[in-house]
Amino acid sequence: MAALAPHAVKAYFPALVATSLRLRERWRQAAQAGTGIALAVDLKCYSIDIIAGLTFGIEVNTLEHGEHVLQRHMDIILAGVARRSMAPFPYWRYLRLARERELDASVAALRTAVDQLITDARTLLEAEPARRQHPANLLQAMLCAAQEEGSGIDNNIVAGNVATMLLAGEDTTSGTLAWLLYLLHRKQAAMPFGAGPRTCPGRYLALLEIKVACAMLLATFDIAAIDTADGREPEEVMGFTMSPQALQMRLRTRT
Ligand code: HEM
Repeated sequence: MAALAPHAVKAYFPALVATSLRLRERWRQAAQAGTGIALAVDLKCYSIDIIAGLTFGIEVNTLEHGEHVLQRHMDIILAGVARRSMAPFPYWRYLRLARERELDASVAALRTAVDQLITDARTLLEAEPARRQHPANLLQAMLCAAQEEGSGIDNNIVAGNVATMLLAGEDTTSGTLAWLLYLLHRKQAAMPFGAGPRTCPGRYLALLEIKVACAMLLATFDIAAIDTADGREPEEVMGFTMSPQALQMRLRTRT
């Protein structure tokens, strides 16, 4: 997990700032037009742009170009993981419901996309061996580690690990940011990363991501409101993580 250690995450800071500026532009337009912001949607775009860049070095830029095909599959997989982990028995082994077939198709599509990215990264590393000293993203770092003698890391392990990073880095950070903004707006706060041997290795990245987004938001806008559609306290929605129910944010540009 060296790739997620504080010094490695710091190297990614410029890319993080660039992504937060894209979010700022999107929020500036909403503030000027006086329209509400679908907080979960925008924060998910922010976190997926960051995690896809860090993991694969690819610019999915969902903030400017809308949903990316990878994001659609990830949303289906995350919902499927949550559903299956709460099921009283493994019904999917016996019932081929439409949503289970959809889940299988998304897992296969993600695997195909990841395999292609692995092939591309391998080709690049072979063409430019000097890059092995300074891998530019998590995938390159894993491929270099895999080549060390006796590493025992094969393609399946690399694919599994990068897919885990993608999935672990999306809803977690965007959900925490949504809660954080909502609670700060109401003058309360909370922040959980687990403890012990399985403490979250993504915590430095997540905290940096959260701080950059908050710094950008508070330096540029005043938060006029963050509310649910009916104005009640948001309920926790059980998914891969516990996210707040859909929240709408209204911003005013600072003068
Ligand atoms: C605010 C955002 C995040 C929160 C609240 C969070 C929370 C957690 C928690 C509580 C665990 C421990 C689960 C357990 O006890 O078994 C965990 C594990 C993990 N997290 Fe995070 N996480 C966040 C962001 C991230 C990010 C951005 C990444 C990747 C880039 C990531 C990667 C992982 C991985 C790989 C594990 C499994 C570690 C292991 O089993 O050894 N997380 N996370």
